[in-house]
Amino acid sequence: MATGEVEDFSEPILGGEGASDYERYLRTDELLSLQKTPEEQAHRDELLFQTVHQASELWLKLAWNEAEEATRLLEAGDLAGAERLLRRSIQALQYVIDQLDMLERQSPWEYQTIRKVLGHGSGFDSPGFREIRRVTPQLGQAFTALLRERGLTVVELYVHGREHEDLYQLAELLIGWDEHISLWRMRHYLVVARVIGDQVVGTQGTPVELLGGLIKQRFYPELWQARNRLTELSNEEE
Ligand code: HEM
Repeated sequence: MATGEVEDFSEPILGGEGASDYERYLRTDELLSLQKTPEEQAHRDELLFQTVHQASELWLKLAWNEAEEATRLLEAGDLAGAERLLRRSIQALQYVIDQLDMLERQSPWEYQTIRKVLGHGSGFDSPGFREIRRVTPQLGQAFTALLRERGLTVVELYVHGREHEDLYQLAELLIGWDEHISLWRMRHYLVVARVIGDQVVGTQGTPVELLGGLIKQRFYPELWQARNRLTELSNEEE
């Protein structure tokens, strides 16, 4: 732009598809064409169903990306940087949990119409949740390596938490992350039971009861087990 010329802010300057820079940067044309049109829908609630699932996949993507980068930062010894990202991961999972509420605004009978057009589609194939299952153990290993470096057990870390504030905060974030995965599973199980029932099989043949069992799965059992030991230790002191 030549000196003295006034910039026209209504004109896009970015490349790509879309009438404005907002639409070009966010690729809203593509994004908003990812849901079935009214003509393609078996039931109008498919918009609700697809919105919740697609939005969940985006938040899960952010959650696991931040957790993976946090792992890398821990391996490089940057605990504060990792903690900043883990707070985001947990918040993103919280959004995924909260969005499940919207599925309960569907009628369980009308949902049966949607269910018939899902094919073998199942949450077991959720890319976001699959990545969460991949990165979570790696995060745990990075934490364990730090504990080992300082010559501490989890119980010792908690008993002497004030002397290892950074590691203590990290341990609390890890158990918070693990807790949120279980909270999601718990909430999802209840939504499934409320929508299709708890004595039926899913679109990939999984009994819903099995989902209930997964709620107890822990990625960081040693962090949970440490609480039992702390209670024992405290009882022994009495
Ligand atoms: C009406 C709503 C929903 C119903 C009825 C439902 C039903 C089910 C069922 C029956 C399963 C067991 C696998 C199968 O056979 O299909 C399952 C698993 C799963 N679903 Fe859903 N689901 C719903 C919403 C969601 C949403 C919004 C998400 C978000 C991403 C999701 C993600 C998953 C995941 C990740 C699994 C694997 C569970 C695990 O590993 O613990 N589901 N779902």
